[in-house]
Amino acid sequence: MADRHIEPDTPELRARWGGFAWTKENAAKAKEIVARYPEGRQRSAVMPLLDLAQRQVGAETNTQGWLPIPVMEYVAAQLHMPIIRVVEVATFYTMYNLVPVGRFHVQVCGTTPCMLRGSDAIMAACKKRGMDKGHTTDDGLWTLTEVECMGNCASAPMVQINDDNYEDLTAERLDAVLDALAAGQAPKAGTQEPGRHTVEPLGGPTTLKEMVKANHDYRKEW
Ligand code: FES
Repeated sequence: MADRHIEPDTPELRARWGGFAWTKENAAKAKEIVARYPEGRQRSAVMPLLDLAQRQVGAETNTQGWLPIPVMEYVAAQLHMPIIRVVEVATFYTMYNLVPVGRFHVQVCGTTPCMLRGSDAIMAACKKRGMDKGHTTDDGLWTLTEVECMGNCASAPMVQINDDNYEDLTAERLDAVLDALAAGQAPKAGTQEPGRHTVEPLGGPTTLKEMVKANHDYRKEW
């Protein structure tokens, strides 16, 4: 994963985020999350709490959210763990944004199956709209990142935008998705291939065909 770095810890950053605290609603969510773990294992809640914190920052900034150092410190204090342990987690997983991002975080998969199925054209379509890898557009709308396999190889090429995946993309299909998002609409997530439901073979199912329309008990046929 290239281009990952933490936003520098500056007085301005401290001034903006030093007073971070859960909203009333998120305080209740955080309590419920921590309670899922056995006594003595509360630190295991670090990932969902970082996600919750990132979403709160996103809500406060009208972006997809990110994790300023003071916010990571807040999560560390909540779980009584050293800040470095929290930073280790946040820097390892690309689902955590370490620098400010735009309203939509466009993560283009560039790993081999997506590359063979046209991710270069997907990346080019993003750049044509003014996106630049590792940067946010001036209007604050788009942040472009290239990521490794997102587990959707059967419907490659794909991008993840905020919480949704868009698959079986062409440059034109991606343009339609981005236009809809920019217009405040909610385009259909998942495969963009007409007639395709999920990741079944493009020509239709080849196995378990009886299961397409109804539940079917195959046991007596085996
Ligand atoms: S290679 Fe892109 S989703 Fe797997």
